[in-house]
Amino acid sequence: MASRYSEVYGAWKTDPERFWSEAAEAIDWFERPERAFDAERGIYGQWFPDGLTNSCYNCLDRHVESGRGEQTAFIYDSPVTNTIEHISYGALLDDVKALAAVYRKLGIDKGDRIIIYMPMIPQAAVAMLAAARIGAVHSVVFGGFAANELAVRIEDCRAKLIVSASCGIEPGRTVAYKPLLDAAITIAEHKPAHCLVYQRDMLTAEMVPVRDIDYAAALTAAKEAGDEAGCTPVASTDPLYVLYTSGTTGQPKGVVRDNGGHMVALKWSMQNFFGVQPGEVFWAASDIGWVVGHSFIVYGPLLNGNTSILFEGKPVGTPDPGTYWRIIAEHGVSVMFTAPTALRAIRKEDPDAALVAKYDLSGFRALFLAGERANPDTIRWAEKALGVPIIDHWWQTETGWPVAGNPLGLGLLPVKYGSPAVPLPGYDVQILDDAGHPVEAEILGNVVVKLPLPPGCLPTLWNADHRFRAAYLDEFPGYYKTADAGYLDEDGYVFIMARTDDIINVAGHRLSTGAMEEVCASHPDVAECAVIGIADALKGQIPAGFLVINSNVSRETSEIEREVISLVRDRIGPVAAFRTAMCVKRLPKTRSGKILRATIQKIADRQPWKMPATIDDPAILDEIAAVLHAKGIGI
Ligand code: COA
Ligand code: AMP
Repeated sequence: MASRYSEVYGAWKTDPERFWSEAAEAIDWFERPERAFDAERGIYGQWFPDGLTNSCYNCLDRHVESGRGEQTAFIYDSPVTNTIEHISYGALLDDVKALAAVYRKLGIDKGDRIIIYMPMIPQAAVAMLAAARIGAVHSVVFGGFAANELAVRIEDCRAKLIVSASCGIEPGRTVAYKPLLDAAITIAEHKPAHCLVYQRDMLTAEMVPVRDIDYAAALTAAKEAGDEAGCTPVASTDPLYVLYTSGTTGQPKGVVRDNGGHMVALKWSMQNFFGVQPGEVFWAASDIGWVVGHSFIVYGPLLNGNTSILFEGKPVGTPDPGTYWRIIAEHGVSVMFTAPTALRAIRKEDPDAALVAKYDLSGFRALFLAGERANPDTIRWAEKALGVPIIDHWWQTETGWPVAGNPLGLGLLPVKYGSPAVPLPGYDVQILDDAGHPVEAEILGNVVVKLPLPPGCLPTLWNADHRFRAAYLDEFPGYYKTADAGYLDEDGYVFIMARTDDIINVAGHRLSTGAMEEVCASHPDVAECAVIGIADALKGQIPAGFLVINSNVSRETSEIEREVISLVRDRIGPVAAFRTAMCVKRLPKTRSGKILRATIQKIADRQPWKMPATIDDPAILDEIAAVLHAKGIGI
């Protein structure tokens, strides 16, 4: 089929407000917005400013009312607990109504914040939707973060309630969540009034009297009492959630998502980008703690009337590298989304993709990849193994939905390996040099999006308008700075090459090296430090720390390295995958004292590098190279 991309992108460019007004017709409103956009409101304007709606209503009630009640909304597939459970739209709605009533009884009102710190279990999605139902603002925190990170989030959004579980299951170990939760509440100055804790069979958490409430018991009691909460009408521009993402310091950024624009953008993208129709099975193999989980495990598929899969497992080891193919075949997945790192993990264990042949993948149409750069080699391997289009697409927590990609729903364009294809309607992607001037095709520069951002993108950061402007809008007036570097080719294809800030991408997880440096520097024996991301064949990048030790310390450096590694694990969490720390005599710096992180990275990654003209003492780079080589890095 010839792609309709140019026609549809052109229609958006000619009249963006008309384009999004038409898209908004796919959403149910209590009060239909009269205007698509008000440039005078918010920081760069606001979408559907006078609409009244409810995200939970659009995800659940309207499907049940229109006869989809029996259709499966979620398939919970958990190889780590040997569980497969089908939850219909009707049953999900019953749970959500009851949990929303529990929230109400606990004094949660519209606009109050609820933190959700849970593993990949259906109760987590119920907790999100129940918050949306009463207009409360949820903030999901990924389970791989440690107590300190959780505390920072509790404090920043001043959560009134935390919904959690007794444990998560990682291959080979049970992760007790409750001690992390208790520690976080101790650290945070702001104390939530209550915690609703879902007790899992594998580990029972100790409850703090009065503060802690058993999730399942409260839900059952509400159902038995017939307690149900209706949908609270919220302004289109009211916040649905806050999702914290790594910033350039230890303080994460609270990305705000509104209700109306978010729904319009996700609903549009499910059909026009991912090419899935209501009733089909869609699977995003991610975690609800990430934006992918918010947009494409929970909200997008439910808004579109799909069956979505909640997968509690890993691409390998649960039990083998055929798990993805088993799930696609067993549950009739039409379209799937994962991170390239997952494919690399599978390929490492099953290089010839022999396990694919065990399963009937005839109903499978496409595999979408995002979260990190998709290396052409991995894409070609997956194309050969699966025989379906493998579609790279690029976006960020901030945007909430794809900025660029090859739109399956509109008809695929020719593939260019290494490029996530073309900007989607809503996004005028441009490349600027550091002085803010447009550069020509094929020239690397700062990837920016002309304002206003489309519906679904962040309107601001939680309680931090100033930081929002400073981080994203001030450097290139009139544009949103993505903090990615890249270029456009002659055909308008986007190529994303690297970050322009301190963010690294570890197994598709976004992490700040600045935050890790703050933790390393807090070790009493560390005088100064640098953390960089070095290339890793499986995870894309992994962090490596360089530590300069105080001159009066005579302990074994290997002991200090071990302590720093466990400090990062304790403060940030295992997700940081911080396993490489090395003590060095000195750090290479410019004469003005700036640490030459990029040069260290090039040496570690065996990339060509030039001696920086401003370097203070070139001999330090030889010292660094020797330390790296001793660890087997950069040889
Ligand atoms: N709760 C607690 N701990 C968690 C966790 C969670 N929800 N998720 C991960 N962790 C822990 C892991 O157990 C691991 O701990 P360890 O250091 O004790 O082994 C650490 O955090 C790193 O986890 P992970 O990044 O998952 O690495 P891994 O080596 O266990 O697995 C992959 C590697 C590639 C298989 C895995 O990263 C993966 O499936 N990635 C897919 C990418 C993805 O889902 N990205 C989301 C954005 S699209
Ligand atoms: P996150 O906010 O966690 O989704 O991370 C967003 C960042 O991941 C982007 O700014 C990019 O640096 C990177 N990223 C995501 N998808 C891609 C992609 N398809 N190609 C290259 N980089 C990507």
